[in-house]
Amino acid sequence: PPTLRQLAARHDLRIGTAVDMAALDADPVYRQRTGSEFSTVTAENVMKWEVLEPQRGQYDWSAADELMTFARRHGQAVRGHVLVWHNQLPAWLNETDFSAAELRNILRQHIFDTVGHFRGRIWQWDVVNEAFNEDGTLRDTIWLRKLGPGYIADAFRWAHQADPKAKLFYNDYNIEDVNAKSDAVYALVKSLRAQGVPIDGVGVQAHLTVDAPPTTFRENLKRFDRLGLDTAITEADVRMVLPPDAAKLRAQADVYRDILGDCLATRHCISFTVWGFTDKYSWVPGWFEGEGAANLLDENYQPKPAYDAVRAELAAR
Ligand code: G3I
Repeated sequence: PPTLRQLAARHDLRIGTAVDMAALDADPVYRQRTGSEFSTVTAENVMKWEVLEPQRGQYDWSAADELMTFARRHGQAVRGHVLVWHNQLPAWLNETDFSAAELRNILRQHIFDTVGHFRGRIWQWDVVNEAFNEDGTLRDTIWLRKLGPGYIADAFRWAHQADPKAKLFYNDYNIEDVNAKSDAVYALVKSLRAQGVPIDGVGVQAHLTVDAPPTTFRENLKRFDRLGLDTAITEADVRMVLPPDAAKLRAQADVYRDILGDCLATRHCISFTVWGFTDKYSWVPGWFEGEGAANLLDENYQPKPAYDAVRAELAAR
């Protein structure tokens, strides 16, 4: 039977997964499936600042480079994740009280070093991640506090200078529906565009639950599309209260199918990435007590109804 990536190719869509590098190294089945099923990959952790620059000025590209090599061998496009975020920052950055001018230089240098290192080899960069609160106000982060809201436009300009060919994305969660947060993202990207800031797309993470799936996802994707932006589903998973049962697995399959359908119905929705593809390795149980089973395959790599639903949706259209 055709793999997900073969089915997705017919739609000009890349289908992707976040990659856990420890699993890629240790687990041959994980490695095989990552290569065969997906046409784009995202580093789950190894392109984050704390991993790349654990000591100031001392970069460690080894794990990220290993993923780049894997992707090249398998004909996969890479989503770069992530340049500007408030989580997984190196300790040296959190522990020192830098002046605004110093911090701005540090951020600029980080973007030039990182984007420059991978120049020409990254398809999409998540330039700014999770900058908004649920109510649509800007999140109180080290970047906002010290640099003011202009850090967002600066980050896109720097990233574009460092790699003019990469597609530059704003990425966030809980912006699947039309809501206060996605309205704020919409206003941001519209204003960035109006100022000539180089932004190419909006990444919608889609960390979802079986109980409360989005209801206005397509309408929301389409308004970004009409602005002339690409969209991408960047981190899809659909968690449930454990243990799984037939009804929950069915509901999960419906959510995956529907959000994929929303992407396929949006002209410039260019990739659909899941945040891991097997329940064997998932961030969910560690973060949401009593929840899990959020991925397409179970812990033994057996397809769940969600996997079949994704295949069927790709095959049907
Ligand atoms: O690598 C260290 C290891 O050396 C150490 O011994 C161990 C002890 O805690 O931690 C390991 O690091 C963990 C890392 O994942 C790698 O496994 C961190 O503690 C843990 O916090 C980290 O979690 C990641 C999380 O981001 C942290 O922000 C998840 O794997 C990752 O899936 C998750 O991904 C985020 C996206 O980047 C942005 N959107 C939301 C998404 C889910 O939270």
